[in-house]
Amino acid sequence: MKIRVLIVDDIQHVREELKRLLLLEDDMEVVGEAADGEEAIRLTEKLAPDVVLMDVGLPRMDGLEATETICARFLKTGVVIISIHGEQEYIRRAMAAGAGEYLVKPFTAEELVEAVRRVWDRTQRLQTVLVHAEEEKAAGGERREVAEGKVLVFAGSKGGVGKSTIACNLAVLMALRSKKVCLVDMDLSGGDVPFFFNLERGPGLSDLAYEEELNAEVLEGYLVRHASGVAILRAGESVGEFYLPPGMIKRLLEILCNSFQYILIDLPAFIIPAMEEVFSLADKIVVVGRGDPPGLRRIKLDLDFFQRQGYQSDLLPLINQPYEDGLDRGVVEKALGRKLAAVLPPDPRTCHTALSRGKPVILEARGSRFSRALEDWVNALIGEEVKKGFWARLFGR
Ligand SMILES: Nc1ncnc2c1ncn2[C@@H]1O[C@H](COP(=O)(O)OP(=O)(O)OP(=O)(O)O)[C@@H](O)[C@H]1O
Ligand SMILES: [Mg+2]
Repeated sequence: MKIRVLIVDDIQHVREELKRLLLLEDDMEVVGEAADGEEAIRLTEKLAPDVVLMDVGLPRMDGLEATETICARFLKTGVVIISIHGEQEYIRRAMAAGAGEYLVKPFTAEELVEAVRRVWDRTQRLQTVLVHAEEEKAAGGERREVAEGKVLVFAGSKGGVGKSTIACNLAVLMALRSKKVCLVDMDLSGGDVPFFFNLERGPGLSDLAYEEELNAEVLEGYLVRHASGVAILRAGESVGEFYLPPGMIKRLLEILCNSFQYILIDLPAFIIPAMEEVFSLADKIVVVGRGDPPGLRRIKLDLDFFQRQGYQSDLLPLINQPYEDGLDRGVVEKALGRKLAAVLPPDPRTCHTALSRGKPVILEARGSRFSRALEDWVNALIGEEVKKGFWARLFGR
């Protein structure tokens, strides 16, 4: 099955060039071309493409407005925005309109096809959610807004390396940037997340396993909201029991992806069968470890493990508390065979004070070394890295 693409750009030779690049890919076909926003909507309705490549500056109706309509009306179609503007404000508006990816001209052919594949992959995964939403609608229920949630998992087979600290603080940072975030504590051995937010322990994931049916309403009863806006699903009162029925996590993520933009999952250092569903649906698996030699070795082993399993997720090594400040990023990246997502500095006093007060570091000490390093990473995660290259050479713009 090929990915069916609709190209929208008012300049004909740009459309031709995009078409040429996509035709080089075996798994893609161009099903139509439109030169303005209104035509884009009309052709999306007629052709039902999987992905629309959308220019922003278009006559009659601009690309962002057309994206908004397409994403609201045609839920099986994903949009990749192509723009000459790389400013955060534009990216934010495009994402708010529902675009799945944002490419700034100039970009490479590889970046283009990867963006198309990612958006396609996500819309495919959303189909199960959509089918369920249709069923709910047919049954008279209200349909929820589809938010295309991204699932980020915090893993690492060494204990106490900072997985929970990072997941909790990243969630807060994203919420502060107006993202709809849900944090899931999947550490069924103890569930530390409530400590980081000064919350009581209470019903959560392990108790959900006993519900007869898992749907949005049932789940809502288990979520608690922190003042920052983060919705939290605690590990629950049945911690210590590691059995979750097959399919439960998949269903949970489907529901969460329907209402949240980011779902962050804090894992323990060990793996249980139900996590297979987490890994296979994750957009990113963040492998957390220390920067000392045994820590680095463990990160490498964990990365190799996930690689062998063949999950589609991005694998992102993250070093928390490097051995010494002068960690040579280049050498480490070469040894791990991947780019590091982030290197977070040791900041014991800040982390300890925040934890003992039950306040996320991000709120307790916004300007701390730890907070600043995490902010740099979240900017990259949310802003979608923008690279230059191909188009500049081609069109000189
Ligand atoms: N960058 C840092 N600098 C100093 N202390 C840190 C840092 N990151 C985390 N810590 C501290 O390390 C301890 C362990 O962190 P955390 O509970 O997040 O690890 P974990 O990987 O989730 O552990 P587990 O495997 O038990 O779930 C906490 O006391 C936390 O405050
Ligand atoms: Mg933990």
